[in-house]
Amino acid sequence: MVNEYEIKKEMCEIGKRVYNRGMVAANDGNFSVKLNDNEFLCTPTGVSKGFMTPEYICKVDANGNVIQANKGFKPSSEIKMHMRVYKERPDVNSVVHAHPLYATTFAIAGIPLTAPIMPEAVISLGCVPIAKYGTPSTEEIPDAVEEHLPYFDAVLLENHGALTFSVSLLDAYHKMESVEFYARLLWQTMQIGGPQELSEEQVQRLYEIRRQFGMPGKHPANVCPNAQAGKPSCHSCGNGCGSSTSNIVTGADADLVASITKKVMEQLGK
Ligand code: 13P
Repeated sequence: MVNEYEIKKEMCEIGKRVYNRGMVAANDGNFSVKLNDNEFLCTPTGVSKGFMTPEYICKVDANGNVIQANKGFKPSSEIKMHMRVYKERPDVNSVVHAHPLYATTFAIAGIPLTAPIMPEAVISLGCVPIAKYGTPSTEEIPDAVEEHLPYFDAVLLENHGALTFSVSLLDAYHKMESVEFYARLLWQTMQIGGPQELSEEQVQRLYEIRRQFGMPGKHPANVCPNAQAGKPSCHSCGNGCGSSTSNIVTGADADLVASITKKVMEQLGK
C-alpha cells in the first residue's frame, strides 16, 4: 500500500532539486505520480516547485479532474500532457516536465538530441526527439508528444522544454538530469569543433548492454522505429529525430562555412 504522504514529501524534494539545479525558472515545471489507474498526485499550478510542502500537492483522476486540492491550489496547467503519457504508457508511474537550459536551447533551435556521444546517454536515453510545438495547457502538446511515446522515455518540446517519464518519480527525474547533461555536453563540444560520435558498432554494443541489464522503458535498442521498418536502426532514427548529425554544425561544416565566407568577402573586396 502506497503512503501518499511520503510520495508528497518526495515530490517536494524533487521540486527542490529541479529548482536548485536551475532546471526551471520561477514557477515553471511540473511533475506527477500515478497512485493507481484513477488517482494521480500532481504539482499545483503557478507556484515555485522549489518551495513546496506536502499540502501543495493536488490529486486528480485519469482525466485530470480534481479529486482533492487544498484551498488556493489547482492542478498544473499541463496536467493534460501528463495524463496522455499515462494513457499511452501503462508502464509509466511518473512524469517530469522542466525547462533545463541546454535541453531547452536545443528544443528552441529545433535540434533533436541524436548524436551518440557518450555511453551513459546512449544506454539510458538512446536519442531524444522533438515533439512539434504546441500551445501550453491545450491538447496541442499531448497530441504532439503522443507519436513519440511508443518509442522514447524522453522528449524535447519544441520552443518549450523537456518531458521525461519512467517507472518512478526518482527515475523520471534522473532522466531529466541525463537529458540536460547530454544536451550540455553536446553544446560544449559544438563550440570546439563538434563531437566525435561513437561508431555504429560501438552504439550497438551499448544497446546490447542495455538489453542485458533488462532496463525498463522504451528505447531504440528495443523499439527503434527505423529497425522495425527494416531500415538501419537509431541513432539515425526516423521517428522525428532526423539523422544524428544532420542538424549539427560540425567542425568540418564550420571550416567550410568559414572558407566560403572568406572567398565571398575577398570577392567583395573587403
Ligand atoms: P504549471 O505551474 O501550471 O504547472 O506550469 C508551469 C510550466 O512550466 C508550464 O509549461
